[in-house]
Amino acid sequence: MERRKIIIDTDPGQDDAAAIMLAFGSPDELEVLGLCAVAGNVPLSFTSRNLRIVCELCGRSDTKVYEGALKPLNRPQVTAEHVHGRTGLDGAELPEPTMAAQAQNAIDFIIETLRREPAGTVTLCTLGPLTNIATAFARAPDIAGRAKELVMMGGGFFEGGNITPAAEFNIYVDPDAAKAVFASGIPIVMMPLDVTHQLLTTKARVAKIAAIGTRPAQVLVEWLAFFERFDIEKYGSDGGPLHDPSVIAYLLKPELFSGRDCNVEIETGSELTVGMTVVDWWRVSGRQPNAKVMRHVDADGFFDLLTERVARL
Ligand code: RIB
Ligand code: CA
Repeated sequence: MERRKIIIDTDPGQDDAAAIMLAFGSPDELEVLGLCAVAGNVPLSFTSRNLRIVCELCGRSDTKVYEGALKPLNRPQVTAEHVHGRTGLDGAELPEPTMAAQAQNAIDFIIETLRREPAGTVTLCTLGPLTNIATAFARAPDIAGRAKELVMMGGGFFEGGNITPAAEFNIYVDPDAAKAVFASGIPIVMMPLDVTHQLLTTKARVAKIAAIGTRPAQVLVEWLAFFERFDIEKYGSDGGPLHDPSVIAYLLKPELFSGRDCNVEIETGSELTVGMTVVDWWRVSGRQPNAKVMRHVDADGFFDLLTERVARL
């Protein structure tokens, strides 16, 4: 089977790290062309560092890491150290990375790659704010039509928001970027909070990852223990939502997910609801669908997949 070529644009973040580990554990299905750091959970200097830590932890220091946007297109930077810790990968003690980031900027890498690879063969996987993607599309409008699709973690509808009552973090940090990407015409698969809030790191699920017994699995368990504490406190749940690996799991087992084609618009005008993803789930607006919005997931199937692939690292 031909491997699927992917670019992961990300703001690690412990859950981003889990997603990258899932991708690295699936080399027969996925070819990671590059990892692009964006400012989000923590500033760019940390998201770049964190990407290189994950690569070295997984024995993948051959992977190319690129640095992208330092801040959102127009709005002040918002970060999430309250969830992810000062570094973004708090919870596990790991050495500073020795591998360097690429000299080429992530935006130029995205443009060059989509222009070089045959049309319809590269999937953009976004796990953070969409600043890099929107910047690349603005600089090279031809590339949105060359990607196979964009699979993203972001937004929320029936679940509302997590950084404000109306907005999910990735969209809230750069709503203008999200608005541009949803208007670009690129085929989008959206993993909103409505899906990721079903993916809870319960004790039973984390115990199966811990039972793998390898160093990568142990570090992931330590990261999850730190990452989940904020949401356990907030939601009173058994475990916290493991957002970002849903994007990679969709590439590997799309049958785990179900949703429908909807129109999605991004609120950018109202300070009360800025960053809200207005999902026309019941098709009342007459606006054209521009995304496949997922709403349901087989959570046990997702964690079985994640555990099985992390065990391969
Ligand atoms: O709202 C959850 C999203 O924001 C996840 O991608 C998490 O890593 C943060 O980036
Ligand atoms: Ca993220």
